[in-house]
Amino acid sequence: MATFSRLVAVALLPAPVPFLPALQTCQNPLKSGHHRTFTLLYCRSQASSGFPDDGIREEQPNVGKHVVEAEKMRNERGVQFFVGSSFYREESAVGRDLACLAAAVYKKDKGRLHVLDALSGCGIRAARYLAHAQADFVWANDACDALDTLMAHNLSLASSSSTYDTDHSGQPSQELDSYFSTNFKDENGRWQVTTQDANKVLLDCYIRKNYFDLIDVDSFGSDSVFLGSALSALSYGGLIYATSTDGFSSGGHRPCNALASYGAYIRPMTFANEIGLRMLIGGVVREAALRNLHVYPVFSHYSFHGPVFRVMLRVLPSNQFLTKDYNFIAFCHKCGETEVVKWSSLGRNKCSCVSSSSVSSRTLNGPLWTGPLHSTDDVKNMTEMAKSWGWIEGDLEPAYERRRSPPVSTKDRNLKKLLSIMLEESNPDLQVGYIELDQISMRSKGSTPKRDDLIVALHQEGYAASRSHVQPNAIKTNCPLGKCVEISQSTAPQR
Ligand SMILES: C[S@@+](CC[C@H](N)C(=O)[O-])C[C@H]1O[C@@H](n2cnc3c(N)ncnc32)[C@H](O)[C@@H]1O
Ligand SMILES: [Zn+2]
Repeated sequence: MATFSRLVAVALLPAPVPFLPALQTCQNPLKSGHHRTFTLLYCRSQASSGFPDDGIREEQPNVGKHVVEAEKMRNERGVQFFVGSSFYREESAVGRDLACLAAAVYKKDKGRLHVLDALSGCGIRAARYLAHAQADFVWANDACDALDTLMAHNLSLASSSSTYDTDHSGQPSQELDSYFSTNFKDENGRWQVTTQDANKVLLDCYIRKNYFDLIDVDSFGSDSVFLGSALSALSYGGLIYATSTDGFSSGGHRPCNALASYGAYIRPMTFANEIGLRMLIGGVVREAALRNLHVYPVFSHYSFHGPVFRVMLRVLPSNQFLTKDYNFIAFCHKCGETEVVKWSSLGRNKCSCVSSSSVSSRTLNGPLWTGPLHSTDDVKNMTEMAKSWGWIEGDLEPAYERRRSPPVSTKDRNLKKLLSIMLEESNPDLQVGYIELDQISMRSKGSTPKRDDLIVALHQEGYAASRSHVQPNAIKTNCPLGKCVEISQSTAPQR
């Protein structure tokens, strides 16, 4: 296979490339104080593989040559950046919106925001934490060493194009510098770029007591190997933003894999995509307990593409393992009812629909997070922040409500609606999971109830009920399925 040099000499360019931004100057400490002027940004060796992990390979940069590839400049909420050959999904922009809002709320509250974006790709998250959340310091790291110039370029653009109050106290301390050299460093001390294994970076921070306020761990699949070290490198009260893209495990198709990655044995249930969030939170809860910490969800977000499960969690010290919201979920395949089973009731696993002589029809799954998916106060604060930034003005009705296929473009984002559903879902009275409207009609042998009418009817009967951001054609409630069917029958229009 032909190999491509990482960088091609700017001087060799035949003509100016139309999309290039102004040249940026960054300091490269590896080059003994030289200022390295760079233009762009392309790692063809990674692009050619078609699969991002394959892009991580030992490759000595040929500093004398510079690749310049014309590439369309992207834009997320006003932050401009290049993607090059990095792994980047436009559909994940809403997950980045939510993260920036939570980070900005944190900064407003604590007055300081140091972020470590441990698996940074092109550095778009790091750039947005700088520009939107006004982070005092951002460390962007990715194991692919061919991405360093791209990350530095995007961070440089973001910090130079956004306003930042320089009268701040959040500068990183020189004594807490890392064991390894940075590839690029901002002259004003607001950002730095490294290309190390994420665990090396995180554990180095832990050993040096260089604690961060927000650590973003955007890993692939069910790679939970960074969660423990990220927790160790967080300040008390700090935030960890964790990701899983393992839909097989959340769907109950790889129970042993889920057990290895998240410590939870998961079998198929009807609300698999909410389980994906609960499995990931539960995995972090367990890692945290090992370290005398406890985590509480700020928000949880499921997205169709991938699928992708993302959770922002607040980390606090705790000298005992708080298991109130870390339990098992029992699901009955016969009557469809769901129940949280506490550790103390593990021996009594029989659904009330089964006679004493029959074999139980329900499975136990877990342990996983059985508490609320979001914090009401945090979602309210994020909504206020989004309003003040003009992010939820003029949002369109989401196309995914009207068509079967998942959204493919950021135009389909509807942050206003998403935040309002999250606020409903944060009600701690709601039961785990959701009930699909089709399940109700299947059991009632009637037509599918209208979601919003059913929610009103459930409220009138004294139950908690809400929409689900995970599944638009479903409700979340604390009403048993059998009773939901009854209520839906009584509210169905008479023919
Ligand atoms: C999902 S992508 C990141 C996307 C990026 N956060 C964004 O929002 O566009 C995951 C990244 O992790 C990097 N990676 C994989 N293994 C790593 C490791 N052990 N340490 C650090 N980075 C790693 C890959 O090179 C890839 O860029
Ligand atoms: Zn049953």
